[in-house]
Amino acid sequence: MVSCRVGFCLILLGTVLVFYTVGAGGATAEKGVTYDGRSLIIDGQRKLLFSGSIHYPRSTPEMWPSLIEKTKEGGIDVIQTYVFWNLHEPKLGQYDFSGRNDLVKFIKEIRSQGLYVCLRIGPFIEAEWNYGPSKFHMRKFTSKIVNLMKSEGLYASQGGPIILSQIENEYGNVEAAFHEKGASYVKWAGQMAVGLQTGVPWIMCKQPDAPDPVINTCNGMRCGETFPGPNSPNKPKMWTEDWTSFFQVYGAEPYIRSAEDIAFHAALFVAKNGSYINYYMYHGGTNFGRTSSSYFITGYYDQAPLDEYGLLRQPKYGHLKELHAAIKSSANPLLQGKQTILSLGPMQQAYVFEDPSSGCVAFLVNNDATKVIQIQFRNNAYSLRPKSIGILQNCKNLIYETAKVNVAKNMRVTTPVQVFNVPDKWEVFRETIPTFSGTSLKTNALLEHTKLTKDKSDYLWYTSRFKPDSPCANPSLYIESSGHVVHVFVNNALAGSGHGSRDIRVVKLQVPVSLINGQNNISILSGMVGLPDSGAYMERKSYGLTKVQISCGERKTIDLGGSKWGYSVGLLGEKVRLHQWRNLRRVKWSTNNAGLIKNRPLAWYKIMFDGPNGNGPVGLNMESMGKGEMWVNGESIGRYWVSFLTPSGHPSQSIYHIPRAFLKASGNLLVVLEEEGGDPLGISLNTISVVGSNQAQSQLS
Ligand SMILES: *[C@@H]1O[C@H](CO)[C@@H](O)[C@H](O)[C@H]1NC(C)=O
Ligand SMILES: *[C@@H]1O[C@H](CO)[C@@H](O)[C@H](O)[C@H]1NC(C)=O
Repeated sequence: MVSCRVGFCLILLGTVLVFYTVGAGGATAEKGVTYDGRSLIIDGQRKLLFSGSIHYPRSTPEMWPSLIEKTKEGGIDVIQTYVFWNLHEPKLGQYDFSGRNDLVKFIKEIRSQGLYVCLRIGPFIEAEWNYGPSKFHMRKFTSKIVNLMKSEGLYASQGGPIILSQIENEYGNVEAAFHEKGASYVKWAGQMAVGLQTGVPWIMCKQPDAPDPVINTCNGMRCGETFPGPNSPNKPKMWTEDWTSFFQVYGAEPYIRSAEDIAFHAALFVAKNGSYINYYMYHGGTNFGRTSSSYFITGYYDQAPLDEYGLLRQPKYGHLKELHAAIKSSANPLLQGKQTILSLGPMQQAYVFEDPSSGCVAFLVNNDATKVIQIQFRNNAYSLRPKSIGILQNCKNLIYETAKVNVAKNMRVTTPVQVFNVPDKWEVFRETIPTFSGTSLKTNALLEHTKLTKDKSDYLWYTSRFKPDSPCANPSLYIESSGHVVHVFVNNALAGSGHGSRDIRVVKLQVPVSLINGQNNISILSGMVGLPDSGAYMERKSYGLTKVQISCGERKTIDLGGSKWGYSVGLLGEKVRLHQWRNLRRVKWSTNNAGLIKNRPLAWYKIMFDGPNGNGPVGLNMESMGKGEMWVNGESIGRYWVSFLTPSGHPSQSIYHIPRAFLKASGNLLVVLEEEGGDPLGISLNTISVVGSNQAQSQLS
């Protein structure tokens, strides 16, 4: 976490917010964004805004236009994205804004479709993203991004689409761990951001002490019930993360939140004066490469209104689209009217916004989750479903009910179009298991994993030797690791594997081994599945082996922790960058031997394949494999892990997205790294589509 040092904190600049000038002949709103206690004010107009999170690096530039178009068609006004610091500045001072990292292109695409942008610069972002960056160079990076946006004219104050920026992210979760430094850091971060003079407001989410003029906002699933509100009556009530689902880790089932529940809580937030709701995520996308944080699957918020592939999830998408239209049809009374709250029963209320010039709208709330309730309101009778909010246009016509879904459910189907089951087409390269004598870094201790790998690789080899000084009966190895995965090799053979989970971080593993009387080679591969994305003092977290013991029967245990250990970072195939065409010849591949192909730990596989017809989404079914990573034409499509089953006995994720932009019509190269052993002959290429509506246009008359 960033700590605020005294010298650094003195860089406080004057606060400038937004301008609203009175010109000749009355009030003239200039371009720009300000706010009052009711809402954001854009170009002089109060705004009720629906927003959706889409993270540009979690899809491809080729996908952006259609994702944005579907989002707009869903009744969304704003696209909210984080800025992914470690993608843009992988090495200090070396910036990358190319390809999926082309933030300016993404924002310009949003502008061209007429939507606004909320730019969550962070730079600490969490987001289930590998090591949500937390460096002392926060100010430098924040200025870099702000200046980039200014130079492209992208702030609303310049006529561009960016109406909001966020500084920090859910720092309130960890603030207490930093005692008084936490609060002064928040102040500093706010002042630093405001000092950058973007001409649009700044927000901080989950930050009750956000300093003026920064707006504190809510994240969660029920902000209408949980959010105490802004910390000043002059700030609008905003919800920056309305979780449409939840992140998913390996070993867990997807979190399914119903369309009715999302609609209920969104409507309640608006009924209680909320004027900005952002769905997190509206489209989650894919954690390509090694970008996902600890244990997260590559599919990100697949249950969002637009699924991992950008396909519509019905009825969620359509039900929310109708909600947005219903609320927008009463934007005037909502934004200009005076609120009154009436009790209509023990668990029923009406929230009424009314104003002689702008009209009237009422939200009838039935909090009873079990009963249909008849409600009398202004001489009309309404019947409300359990746990439902009805929206009365003109305080009379029931135009929407959160618990009544009019949109038909659709279903996603995965169709295998090629099974890679011809042994002759595959080639395999097996990693050599390093031994102690071949390593260059040696110490008398078990070292921390990430200090050596520096996240350049998931893998670190711990190698040692063991020579029993007396006969060792029924030998077994006992290993403890603080994360995440271990594979134990004794004399070149895999003796066993173990892993932790997001909830149980310590890996404990006892495996029987066979030893010879002389020197035995012990090589333990420690693997990580991403770094943490959040928490206090992340830099103090440690991973890798903490204990290695050999037991001979019941009686004798020899601790190897203090023996000589030799280290080697990464795998050979990684070092030669075997996933790229030009490096394929740097190792010797075995061909044409089905027997060699199956169930080999630490094997690299390659095959050539044709791209599937059509232009719909494509995915690889990896269910026949164990754990590893795969690349298509040199692009990593992420880490797979199908051997880690959910409590109900299924892989958390079987299908792995290959964006169309990675594929050619023919001559595609698939490279797979398998850690545990699997059967590549079962891998298949699939097209993904939906049965039922995938039309963004309303199906309703
Ligand atoms: C909504 O805002 C009005 C005006 O500030 C206030 O009187 C009322 O208490 C607010 N309602 C809720 C539910 O917060
Ligand atoms: C251990 O590794 C060395 C090479 O470092 C090798 O010469 C030796 O044969 C190996 N021992 C066993 C038992 O496999």
